[in-house]
Amino acid sequence: HWTDEERQAITSIWAEVNVEEAGHQALTRVLVVYPWTQRYFSTFGNVSNATAIAGNHMVRAHGKRVVVALGDAIKNLDNVKATYAKLSELHSEKLHVDPENFKLLGETLIISLAAQFGAAFTPDIQAAWQKLMAVVTAALSKQYY
Ligand code: HEM
Repeated sequence: HWTDEERQAITSIWAEVNVEEAGHQALTRVLVVYPWTQRYFSTFGNVSNATAIAGNHMVRAHGKRVVVALGDAIKNLDNVKATYAKLSELHSEKLHVDPENFKLLGETLIISLAAQFGAAFTPDIQAAWQKLMAVVTAALSKQYY
């Protein structure tokens, strides 16, 4: 269910994404803009305000991990649900992350990409990334019941 243009829009941006930086920015924005998400990261030390979050090395490492995992979805665009089955189970049964939060991370990632790419992040490219993050969110939410 992906057009060639959508695949191109996703992979052309992905090729230029700094995984660590994009992950750090997206996770930082989630924690600052939606502060109730801070409670999931109680093992990360101080994540209670923007300054603490910006300097938190565990936030940086974890942001990178999340975007690396996003790369798995991009490599398996036709099979995202199966790709994320284990990860969905982990977020549901072990981490108890409310799946609504996946949507929030999708939004902050797209804002981070827009900030990095500026005008090159065209409406068509945004549309493809919105669809990607919707597919990712649905796949990560799959094992919840
Ligand atoms: C752990 C991916 C969204 C909370 C992880 C891990 C990955 C991952 C790969 C490590 C799994 C492992 O240990 O094997 C993703 C992806 C997301 C996403 C791809 C969305 C695109 C979220 C959101 C939250 C969250 C929105 C909460 C607001 C956590 C927590 C851990 C975790 C608390 C465990 C961290 C630790 O203790 O090291 N996630 N995640 N995730 N994720 Fe997510």
